[in-house]
Amino acid sequence: MKIPLVELHLHIEGTLEPELIFDLAARNGVTLPWASLPELRAQYEFDDLQSFLNLYYRNLDVLRERVDFGDLTRAYLERARTAGVRHAEIFFDPQAHTSRGIPLLTALGGVREALDTSEADWGISTKLIVTFLRDRPAAEALAMLGEILAGDFRIDGIGLDSAEVGYPPELFTEVFELARANGLHLVAHAGEEGPPAYVWQALDLLGVERVDHGIRSLEDETLLERLVRERIPLTVCPFSNVRLRVIDTLADHPIVRMLDRGLLACINSDDPAYFGGYIDDNLAALDREFGLGPDRLALLARNGIEASFLDAAGKAALG
Ligand code: HPA
Ligand code: ZN
Repeated sequence: MKIPLVELHLHIEGTLEPELIFDLAARNGVTLPWASLPELRAQYEFDDLQSFLNLYYRNLDVLRERVDFGDLTRAYLERARTAGVRHAEIFFDPQAHTSRGIPLLTALGGVREALDTSEADWGISTKLIVTFLRDRPAAEALAMLGEILAGDFRIDGIGLDSAEVGYPPELFTEVFELARANGLHLVAHAGEEGPPAYVWQALDLLGVERVDHGIRSLEDETLLERLVRERIPLTVCPFSNVRLRVIDTLADHPIVRMLDRGLLACINSDDPAYFGGYIDDNLAALDREFGLGPDRLALLARNGIEASFLDAAGKAALG
C-alpha cells in the first residue's frame, strides 16, 4: 500500500515547470530571454539561495491572468496525486506578483479557485499559506495582510520566505501578531542559510508553530533540545538543500541524524520544478542514499501528518 503523503513546504510558484513557462509565454505574448527549453534549463545551476531566487522571480513574468495561476496550481495537484500526496499546505508569495503589477485578486484568486476543488478533482485536501518576502519592508507585508484579511481569500496561515541572511524574523513581529489575532497558523523559513539565532527568533518573537528548513538548528544543541522537547516540526527539503548548496551532496544530508536525534522532521520538495524533483523523488533518493527502509519512510510520512494543520479527525483519516 502506498503511504499517504503530506506536503507542508511547497511554493506553488516553485512548481512552474520550464514547459509551462514556454506555454504561458506564448499564450500571454511574453518575450522570454531564452530561445529554447534547453537554453532555459541551462540556467538551473545555483550557487546559493539568492541565485535561485533571481531566476524564480524572473520566471514569474509569464503569470499574467487569473487562469494562469489556476493552471499552475492544477498542474502541481495533478503531479502531487501521482506522488501519493493526500494533503498539501501550499505557500504563495502575493508580493512577487503585486510588485510587478498583477492585482491581488488575479493572483491569489486564481490559486484559491484551484484549491477549492482540489479534494474533488485530485483527492488532495489543501491549505493555503501566504508567505511574505522578508527582503521587502515589513510595512508592505503588514499592508498586504490587511488587504488579504479584508477580502474573501480564506487563507489558513502566513509564513516568511525569500532571502534570509540580513532579514531576521524580529523585523516581522507586528505582521505575525496581526495574523495570530486573526486565528491564522504561523510558520517561517528559518535556519536555511541564516543562523540558529533566526530559528530562536521565529519561535520566541513570531510564535511559529513549524520551522521551514531549520537545518542549521543542528549547530545549536540548546535549540535542538527545545525543538525535540516541544515537538516543533521542521519541514526539511533535501533536494533544495543540495541545489542551493546548503549541503554539499545528498550523502551529506543530516536527515538520518535529525530523526535519530528525535526531531519531528518531514520531507518536502520546496520548489520541485527547480531542484530536480517532487516529494516522491526526494523520498526515493533518500531511500537509495541511506537505505531508509519502510520503517523510516513511514516515520517521515507520519511526521508530516503530525506536523500538518489538519484537525485530529483529518490526521486520523490519513494516519
Ligand atoms: N527559501 C526561501 N525563499 C524561497 C524559497 C526557499 O527555498 N523558495 C521560494 N522562496
Ligand atoms: Zn521554501
